[in-house]
Amino acid sequence: MTTLNVNGSMREFEAESDTPLLWVLREQLGLTGTKYGCGLAQCGACTVHIDGVPVRTCVRPVSSVKSTEKIVTIEGLSPDGSHPVQKAWAKLDVPQCGYCQSGMIMAAVALLKVKPNPTDTDINNAMTNICRCGTYNRIRAAIKAVAKGGDLHSAGLAIAHTDGSTT
Ligand code: FES
Ligand code: FES
Repeated sequence: MTTLNVNGSMREFEAESDTPLLWVLREQLGLTGTKYGCGLAQCGACTVHIDGVPVRTCVRPVSSVKSTEKIVTIEGLSPDGSHPVQKAWAKLDVPQCGYCQSGMIMAAVALLKVKPNPTDTDINNAMTNICRCGTYNRIRAAIKAVAKGGDLHSAGLAIAHTDGSTT
């Protein structure tokens, strides 16, 4: 039996040492918000934080993670979806199919922690996750909305309607 610190709790599991962390999270700990996409560290669907750093768990052997390292999955971001990034995602209707989105959100949260007001270049460099639905523009808008305190108007993201109103 081995132990990991996941979302603030010590969790026990049994797995071969070369098992990717992703499969321990999903299949043993029941944290299915983290997704499998490519298995090659290319798409980012499997992203979680380890000590605040975004990590692609499909290629991370579970034996390489110490029990002192703090893992946070999408389920651990907030108890009720109220993290500012999650709220911005909902407000701007970012997801389409949603498959890539937990990885996208985890990457965005990690970016905003180190760069609270990221430039387009910062976003391009940090957000290398792949979205088959092409939600990239809304992801960028949501990150900028969070950077501006969640205010879509001051972030320059308000939608102008034909009647002159904005939302
Ligand atoms: S499933 Fe891990 S990066 Fe694609
Ligand atoms: S929302 Fe469908 S893959 Fe990104």
